[in-house]
Amino acid sequence: MPSARVIEPTRGARVWQEWQSVLTQFAVQPMPGPVAGVFGKKANLLMLKRAWGRLQARHALCEVARVVLTQTQANMSKLTSPKDLLVEELKDLYSAENQLMKALPRLAKAAESEELKSAFETHLEETKVHIERLEKIMEQLDESPKGKKCKAMEGLVEEGKEMMEEEGEPAVLDLGLISAAQKVEHYEIAGYGTARTLAELVGETRIAKTLQQTLDEEGKTDKLLTEIAMGLNLEATAAGDDEE
Ligand SMILES: [Fe+2]
Ligand SMILES: [Fe+2]
Repeated sequence: MPSARVIEPTRGARVWQEWQSVLTQFAVQPMPGPVAGVFGKKANLLMLKRAWGRLQARHALCEVARVVLTQTQANMSKLTSPKDLLVEELKDLYSAENQLMKALPRLAKAAESEELKSAFETHLEETKVHIERLEKIMEQLDESPKGKKCKAMEGLVEEGKEMMEEEGEPAVLDLGLISAAQKVEHYEIAGYGTARTLAELVGETRIAKTLQQTLDEEGKTDKLLTEIAMGLNLEATAAGDDEE
């Protein structure tokens, strides 16, 4: 019995097959069989050209979509566990603290009261320590503290800047600075409180303790600002009001 002869497809047929599968993959209409058979004809070459053009265009679109998707995925973090959320909250706090570190010297410069000036300066030093603590925590979690911008702090700092640009009675302007700074402190208190609880939830007791330490310092700063506000000399302002 003669052995069955395996007919190998010619190179041209193989190339054609591959070409058809590429076109199908990119949803380009493959050429109809009878037309595709003859390459030499102008009409077929034209179709091939068009198909190639469409393929290129689709390929470019696919490439753009792939890049956009990759970037979006890189920017979007997957929150699949409380620990992921903790990392996100810590990144937010890291950005918030860094923005505050830049804003505090400006607040200190703008303050009229020596006590307020010194409170801002002291809190600047504390803020630097808070940043270092966050860096250490993230190291323990094997994560980078960078990669997020705290938009809330951006807004709070912006409001503080607006206050610094105001003109008026020095003691009243100081009260305005205190108001802006206390809003910042309360944001931090909320952030550190949440992060501490999350750390406790995931069993990171040491991290929770460190976060509590910062939380306590933010609380003390907030109380100190209230005390400074209560002690500001508003007599001149009150006298001014009486004259009217
Ligand atoms: Fe802080
Ligand atoms: Fe603070």
